[in-house]
Formats: sequence, structure tokens, C-alpha cells
Amino acid sequence: MEEKYLAAKQKLERYHQEHLLNYFDKLSEEEKIELLDDILTIDFNQMEELYELTKKEESFKNSKIEPIAYVEKAKLSKEERQKYTQIGEDIIRAGKYAVVTMAGGQGTRLGHDGPKGTFDIGLKSHKSIFEILCDKMKEARDTYHVDIPWYIMTSEENNEDTIHFFEDHQYFGYPKECVSFFVQGKLPMIDPEGKVLLTEKGTVKQAADGHGGVFESMRRNGIIYDMLSRGVEWTFIGLVDNVLAKLVDPILIGLTIDRKVLASGTSIVKRDPTERVGVYCKRDGKPGVVEYTEITKEMSEARDENGELYFGEANMLCNLFSIKVLDDIANNKLPYHKAFKKAKYIDSKGNLIVPEKPNAYKFETFLFDAFESLDDMAILRVKREEEFAPVKNAEGSDSPETARKLYEDYYHLN
Ligand code: UTP
Repeated sequence: MEEKYLAAKQKLERYHQEHLLNYFDKLSEEEKIELLDDILTIDFNQMEELYELTKKEESFKNSKIEPIAYVEKAKLSKEERQKYTQIGEDIIRAGKYAVVTMAGGQGTRLGHDGPKGTFDIGLKSHKSIFEILCDKMKEARDTYHVDIPWYIMTSEENNEDTIHFFEDHQYFGYPKECVSFFVQGKLPMIDPEGKVLLTEKGTVKQAADGHGGVFESMRRNGIIYDMLSRGVEWTFIGLVDNVLAKLVDPILIGLTIDRKVLASGTSIVKRDPTERVGVYCKRDGKPGVVEYTEITKEMSEARDENGELYFGEANMLCNLFSIKVLDDIANNKLPYHKAFKKAKYIDSKGNLIVPEKPNAYKFETFLFDAFESLDDMAILRVKREEEFAPVKNAEGSDSPETARKLYEDYYHLN
């Protein structure tokens, strides 16, 4: 331990982060080891680069942005629908399909004490979000008579609680051996002076590194390998917080395979030019997403001859990937984005600070930044009221109340 301590101290001196050892003596043996291990494994060079990022406005590459082609599910002919369904169902029945649910977020806006998936959105059944999603897995199992592997990405913060929740609820009746959890990567949080924060326990304050971390953490945790060994060829990756997400949609699979592309995504029509959503686009000829913070007013308001927004295919973060591209994507470094968030921490005098407004930076990568490594993608436009009911905020738009209403309307529960 002494040697480790000295190595950590020297490392911290190099990066002007000595304060991290201020409370060392007050920590338990276990916490001491955790703190030293963290310090010795953190890439402080990277943290310095990320700190530089906090001083800059987010800059966007000067790229050529064009609309992307899409297929509208509701307008498929009977033949197309049958063809795609057939292709997709063959894949699912043959055990070549898996689902990944990203549930590593902090859910700060919702403010629920626990993983977002454990939240009860207020249905009469009081099902949690995890159970709502699991219902879709069970339905597919009954329909296709196959156990679809379900991988759930957690974060270090919520991994244990998530697993306990599944255990306590007997995996909601889904075969336990088909459910796996994997923990995503994390990065230290820093204050506006670039100092790494300490947790209430005196260890390094780290936060999940964004949904873009899914690829790298799938590789690091052997998930891609596990999928390959089970014969999986196509993987759906979606968010935990959309209670109407179609986790198993043969049409999306069929369309993707028929188009001979290696990835696809569903979109919904952007409500109006000001809606704060990213939209699918072609960026320098490659598929991508243009964020609402990046798009110009002119571009966001432009309409085609039918009066539809030119850039109107809102990204719902529901994507399908061929297993063939997952490894390549995982090898690409995605750019980091900063977010200024509220974070409890211990200050230099040893006081616990519970901020009322954002006080610290966290750094995240975004899943859709990975699209540019693909040549093309299929985009399937779906109906908002059928496939999109997000739970983001505690109240107002995209809240448990709006999601519950959408869910109840869709399933005719009232
Ligand atoms: P968001 O960033 O919209 O939501 O992530 P959040 O993290 O749950 O909540 P806020 O922003 O703190 O209020 C969208 C989805 O991506 C997952 C989340 O679990 C959510 O399903 N996600 C996000 C991760 O799995 N890991 C992350 O690091 C970030």
C-alpha cells in the first residue's frame, strides 16, 4: 500500500491534483485501495485535454450536411411489408438476433433515487420501466419460440441496484440465463478549475462516459464475443427510457438486410423546426446526426415540395447493427462532449457540498457519432405515437405522465 500511495502522490503532483489525497487518512482500508487504484489508472493527460474542452464552445466540423433517405413504415406496400417481415422473422427464429438496452445514465432530470429502469411510471399495474421492456422480450419469445439474449448496460453507479432489482423480481419471468449485465466506462468529473472531484466517501467522483461508450464496453466486457458464440448476427441497441420502443421489430431487420447495409435506425418526424432533437442526415456523404444545437435556423426550417421538413427525421436512439461492424466501431475513438451537471462532492475543507445548480463537468461520447464510420444506413420512419414515449423529465414534456398516457393509449388500457 505504501508503494502505491507514493506512486499515486507523485502522479498527482505532476498533474496538480494533490487534493485527491487530502482525506486519505480518514478512509477505510477498502476505500484507500479503491482511491489509489483509481488514481493510478486515471489518464490525467486525457483529463487535461478534456479540461481544455470545457473552455471552448462546442465546435462543429465544417461539413456538407444533406438530408438522408428514409422509408416510411406506414407507407410500405403489402408486398414490402411481407418481404421485410419474412426476412426479419427468419433471423429472429434462427437465434441470430440480440437486444442491448442502455441503462447506464444518471437520470438526473428525472430525479429518481435508483436506476431509471426501476421507476414506476404510474400504470395501474405499477410495472417498472424494466418490466415494461421485459414484456416486449417475453412477447417476442412467445411469438418466435426463441430465447433472445438481452444485454443490459449499466454504470458502476447503478450496476448493483439494477442486478438486485432483476433478482428481486425473478427477471420478470424472462429466462435468467438470457439476461446479462455489463458495466460501461467512466470518467472523472472536474470542477470549472479542472480539479477532479471527490465523492462523499473520499474516492474519485466518476460518471458514466455516455451512450457512445456502449461499443467499447461491449468489447471490453466480452459481450461482442458472447454474441458471436451464440450465433448472433444482428443486434438492436436502444435506450432504457422509451417505454414504447420496439425491441424486436422484424420489419426493421428485414429492411436493413434487404438494403444490404450494416446498420439502421428508426426515426420519427420532428414536430417543428424548434424541437430540441437531433436529426439523421448525410454528413460529407456518410450517415450521421445533426444536433439541434448545430443545425442552422435556415436548415431547420427548410421544407420540401410536400411541405415536410427537409431535416425532419428525428433520431430516437433505436438502432440495429450487424455484428460485423460492432468490433470496428468499438475500435474507433469517438469525440467527447462536455455536460455541466450538478454533482455532490467533498470540498478542500472536508465539507460535503450539495449544489443547487450545475457545478461540475462530465464528459460523454454519443452513440450516433459512430455512424460516420459506416458507408450507409437504412432509416425507417415510424409513428411517434406507436414507438416513442420517452421518460426524461420529472414533470412536463417527456415525463412519466406523458409516457404513461402514450403507453395507455397505444395498448388501449383505458
Ligand atoms: P440521457 O442522457 O438522455 O438520459 O440518456 P439520462 O442519463 O438517463 O438522464 P439525465 O440526462 O441525467 O437526466 C439517454 C439514455 O442513454 C442511457 C441512459 O440510461 C438513457 O437510457 N445512457 C446515457 C447510458 O446508458 N449511459 C450514459 O453514459 C448516458
